[in-house]
Amino acid sequence: MFDLIKPLIYKTDPEFAHNAVEFVLKTARRCPLFFNPLIEKNFIDEPILNQKIWGLEFKNPIGVAAGFDKNATMIAAWPALGFGWGEIGAVTPKAQEGNEKPRAWRHIEYEAVQNAYGFNNEGVEVIKQRLKNIYPFILPIGANIGKNKTTPEDKAIDDYKILVNELKDVVDFFVVNISSPNTPGLRNLLNAEFISTLFKELKKLTSKPVLIKFSPDMEDDMIINLANLSVINGADGIVVTNTTTNYELVKSNIKKGGISGKPLAKRSYEVLKLVAGEVFGKVPIVSVGGIDSADEAYKRIKAGASLLQLYTAIIYKGPGIVRDINLGLIERLKKDGFNHITEAVGIDIPKKLELKDTNAS
Ligand code: FNR
Repeated sequence: MFDLIKPLIYKTDPEFAHNAVEFVLKTARRCPLFFNPLIEKNFIDEPILNQKIWGLEFKNPIGVAAGFDKNATMIAAWPALGFGWGEIGAVTPKAQEGNEKPRAWRHIEYEAVQNAYGFNNEGVEVIKQRLKNIYPFILPIGANIGKNKTTPEDKAIDDYKILVNELKDVVDFFVVNISSPNTPGLRNLLNAEFISTLFKELKKLTSKPVLIKFSPDMEDDMIINLANLSVINGADGIVVTNTTTNYELVKSNIKKGGISGKPLAKRSYEVLKLVAGEVFGKVPIVSVGGIDSADEAYKRIKAGASLLQLYTAIIYKGPGIVRDINLGLIERLKKDGFNHITEAVGIDIPKKLELKDTNAS
């Protein structure tokens, strides 16, 4: 069915298509008769995939990546799409329009999307009221939090504090977004000083988990340093990765925004391996970026990710993709003799060589 309507969808402007999907899902939430059969079909809840992380129950590992449900209008539809958890946002303290349109493009031949939205959202007050009506939800909900465009870098910490204070009773965890390429200067905050202040301050405000999301465009050394530093300062998890500004990945004249989808998969996997090499076993790792099949999902789990997220794959593979991945994961786990997903998490991480006692003869 999705393959039939795909060419039609691809003729529309990507932002218009997304708004149309949002309209349908948000309207349908008042009609359980619409969602129930979809939940029955798409939502996989099997003991082999159930995990308890940060004290939260994850029925399956595939989550809604940030940016899909910016204003928390579609949460009721997440299980109908098969997701086991998700992030809303990015939310900023004040409502903002985001960047000029057009600001989203499809690269169909690459199965990629390029977006330069710039945190368009209705602001924390409106989103908080919406969350109040649905929280606690049957699935874990995280808030992806970002600073307003007009907030200077040296005041950025205040925005993150406002967001955590406002949302701490209506979400299960936070993901600090200082890795979007679409807010000028935001990625400058991916530095040691800001990260240590950030966690010290945010942990004073909430006992809920606070994660940090990394950019794939940092140098490897920087990724390693910031992963360690985040964990030392109290990060409860690391999300890798956001979109990339490596425009060489697609042939296009558009040189703004960030690229997601298939071309991002390779770097996202590399960054996951770098981060897992440092912090695996200390905090859970979330992998996102180009996950569009059970094979890719399984690869990320074996590389150290406890949880996964996707966005772009829905656009190219359709709404059945989450179900297909979850079923494929169960098949692969069983085939490899695992009784539970946690047995496979990090199985591919090379063991660090034990230092030999050089004094021993
Ligand atoms: C995003 N992404 C994103 N990330 C984030 O932390 N905050 C955000 O507001 C957004 N907004 C956003 C909008 C659009 C249109 C896209 C396509 C992506 C990034 C997203 O969460 C994810 O990290 C990347 O898209 C990589 O995953 P996929 O899309 O390759 O599965």
